[in-house]
Amino acid sequence: MKAVMATALIAVSASAFALAQSGARATARQPSRLDIGRAATAAEIKKLDIDVMPDGRGLPAGRGTVAEGAAIYAAKCRSCHGANGEGGSFDRLVGRDSGPNFNFAMDPKLVKTVGNYWPYATTLYDYTYRAMPFMQPGSLSPDETYALVAYLLALNKIVPEDAVMDQASLPKVVMPARDKFVMDNRKGGKLVK
Ligand code: HEC
Repeated sequence: MKAVMATALIAVSASAFALAQSGARATARQPSRLDIGRAATAAEIKKLDIDVMPDGRGLPAGRGTVAEGAAIYAAKCRSCHGANGEGGSFDRLVGRDSGPNFNFAMDPKLVKTVGNYWPYATTLYDYTYRAMPFMQPGSLSPDETYALVAYLLALNKIVPEDAVMDQASLPKVVMPARDKFVMDNRKGGKLVK
């Protein structure tokens, strides 16, 4: 009996415990599968697979204009980000001045905006589609997102008022801060904090 109890204490699964109790062979065996859940369907994976790369990979079909974006912005974004993206209760989205020497890391008072900080226009699509509006993330269609991106880029004077954003045009937009970001090739020492 003592040997059986000792085996039971180290047994990891309920079935091994039952086997030990009954005095039968007490080797704990993992089942080959746990039979929890099911395979995700292609449609379910597609819904989650929304990341957009800097070069535009992952952008869906669709299109949007600056004027369409202005209307959507007024309805779904202005309450938090202010008229013309100038900031309200939440982040300012428009502004081209990046302060002296792009000094964001050293000066926390400098305000980062889409126009003065973001290196890739495609990230604006990814982020907006994924995370905005803040209270209903995932509710925008690709067309609405392209339109909002066109509008925000136009407000930042990065694309013209008649710009149309889509799979082909958006990756070609060069952001003002693009060349401010470099590969981190520091090797260590004083430079790395
Ligand atoms: C309920 C308020 C609210 C609404 C409405 C809203 N946002 Fe935001 N937005 C936020 C908050 C809060 C953040 C910062 C989130 C964070 O840092 O995690 C943010 C961040 C952003 C940013 C990133 C700013 C930066 O430079 O880091 C963008 C771009 C943006 N929102 C676009 C939009 C667009 C486009 C819409 C309309 C579809 C929208 N937001 C609607 C609250 C809101």
